[in-house]
Amino acid sequence: MSENNKQNPGVQDAENSIDYLNLLVTSGLALSEMDDPAELLSLMAQTALIMGNCEGCTVYEANGNQLKFVTTRNRVLESRGVKAALKNYTIPIDLKTTAGFAASSRKTLNIPDVYNLPPESPFSFNPSWDVMTNYRSRSMMVIPMCDSRGNVLGVLQLINHLTGENFSGDVSPFPKKVESYLKALASQCGVVLRNLRMQDDLRQSRIETVKKFVKASEYHDTDTGGHIERMSRYSVLLYQELGFDESACEVMRLAAMLHDVGKISTPDAVLKKPGRLTPEEFEIMKLHTVKGYEVLRGADSPFLQMGAVIAYTHHEKWDGSGYPRGLKGKDIPAEGRVVAIADVFDALCSRRVYKESWPIDKVFDELRNCSGSHFDPQIVEIFFDNLDSILEIKAQFPAIEPPPQVQPAPVTVAVGAPAASTPAAASASTPVAQQSAAETKKDEAQNPQEQSPSLKAS
Ligand SMILES: [Fe+2]
Ligand SMILES: [Fe+2]
Repeated sequence: MSENNKQNPGVQDAENSIDYLNLLVTSGLALSEMDDPAELLSLMAQTALIMGNCEGCTVYEANGNQLKFVTTRNRVLESRGVKAALKNYTIPIDLKTTAGFAASSRKTLNIPDVYNLPPESPFSFNPSWDVMTNYRSRSMMVIPMCDSRGNVLGVLQLINHLTGENFSGDVSPFPKKVESYLKALASQCGVVLRNLRMQDDLRQSRIETVKKFVKASEYHDTDTGGHIERMSRYSVLLYQELGFDESACEVMRLAAMLHDVGKISTPDAVLKKPGRLTPEEFEIMKLHTVKGYEVLRGADSPFLQMGAVIAYTHHEKWDGSGYPRGLKGKDIPAEGRVVAIADVFDALCSRRVYKESWPIDKVFDELRNCSGSHFDPQIVEIFFDNLDSILEIKAQFPAIEPPPQVQPAPVTVAVGAPAASTPAAASASTPVAQQSAAETKKDEAQNPQEQSPSLKAS
């Protein structure tokens, strides 16, 4: 029985009633299944509060040479309706504060009374929070959260251990026995947190690798100005609304960016030809779908696999008039059908060196007109059902557009025509289809006789 409980015989020692081992095992299993660092640290705080049988618990996450506040619980303040307001609060990792000291020294602090620190203590206690909330911090345990290599990932700080079970009794120092279990809890959490950070690092480097790869291919192309970022996000939105789950949508986010990587194999003489392509040149341009597929296929990575499918099918059309295989309807994979509309929408909205951007209403009319011919009608419907979100993305990633080089003019190039090389052929066209057939006439401004705002392959 603790010293306090000798004076309060009705209160039972908390340490005798808590099944620490069971709590540690149970929380360890739960922590290991967490995939979100914030939720992980929140669960650790909740578990630490029970394990420490204390009034309060605060968790900080290490970020460079700072500790950043993550979450806090305090039963006394909560019962008074006082909410912690520590958002964006940071503490330097140095020897001057309790949390900073624990992080920089990797040592656990077990302080009987923070208001009676020994004179030689390198750190001090800042009472401002107590003053502000009319609270009295007394005993404190501060535990650095480290990974297996000793890197500090955060700090767990507990306030006011209670002598009785179920958070009753008087405030007393944290017992040594509790310290061991809390250190084990912090270690468990540190390992999981490190793994999550490594996973996140891998995910980020995967995203960066894809973006760099796409950027490399863009040096060879002219469809820049944020096209990839926007069309990828439009694709994710449409894909999600089509019913695909979160992990598939995450794959789509990267895979969509790869839709035109095959253009890296398209000769500059074709890709950057300032005038209309000949039928032979258009056949070469069409090969970017096959080349992209050949580059990406056969990989183990899900996003490269999906990227291969998208590269191969993003110029197929619902009515079978697309390329390279002339697939029709749902024979075209959903990924290709989704990217087709996302890609065309963004291309029509964007200025290119060979065309002006279209007024948004004209773009909408075009998408509606091409529902059931170029595009899957269901996806067109989803597009317009989610127009607010689409326009939010458009506003969020404004285009960095090339300087205007052409005047807007009526679109005149044939739907999917290999090469609308004569005025007669051109007049038989609809505008949006030219997006996919745009390889046929790029930068026609340089040939005033054949000027039009047609799009090259997007
Ligand atoms: Fe393309
Ligand atoms: Fe594109």
